[in-house]
Amino acid sequence: MQKVLIVYDSRTGNTERMAMAVLEGVKQSGVNAETKRAGECTLDDLQEANGIILGSPTHFGTMSERMKKLIGESVKIRGKLENKIGAAFTSSGGVSGGNETTLISLIQAMLIHGMIVIGDPMEATGHYGAVAIGGPDERALDVCKKLGKRVGELVKKLS
Ligand SMILES: Cc1cc2nc3c(=O)[nH]c(=O)nc-3n(C[C@H](O)[C@H](O)[C@H](O)COP(=O)(O)O)c2cc1C
Repeated sequence: MQKVLIVYDSRTGNTERMAMAVLEGVKQSGVNAETKRAGECTLDDLQEANGIILGSPTHFGTMSERMKKLIGESVKIRGKLENKIGAAFTSSGGVSGGNETTLISLIQAMLIHGMIVIGDPMEATGHYGAVAIGGPDERALDVCKKLGKRVGELVKKLS
């Protein structure tokens, strides 16, 4: 059965709460879902998934160091993540503190791997992925669930 892996980093729990909502959304699509912290995720985990959703706190307008480390290590499996479905989410301290640039940094890594990244035409749910300012409120959690569900549904369609 198809699986979506949600890989996230979180120092103070905000991105982690988003990850749990994304997990719920993927499960709603009927696809298997699992979360892994960036520090615990192996290259095999990435290769086994049909969809990969990356979540990171915004650190200096980009992904966190732990997430960047995993991305750096993933060069060893270059070519093996091709055509997997991808999406991203982040929590930032401020409204214009670099959350979109963080999403783009995650998306960029997925594109370099040849993954198919999901965008969103609606501003309300975020063109580049899901965002929360600090701890996710109900709206942000709902956006996370929708993001997870969309990835799950697309994985079902394309796998
Ligand atoms: C090292 C570090 C760098 C940060 N850089 C930014 C930043 O550039 N812009 C911003 O809006 N918030 C920044 N923050 C705040 C975090 O993005 C914010 O607190 C987020 O909600 C933390 O998510 P977490 O609880 O999942 O760790 C930074 C926090 C840390 C620890």
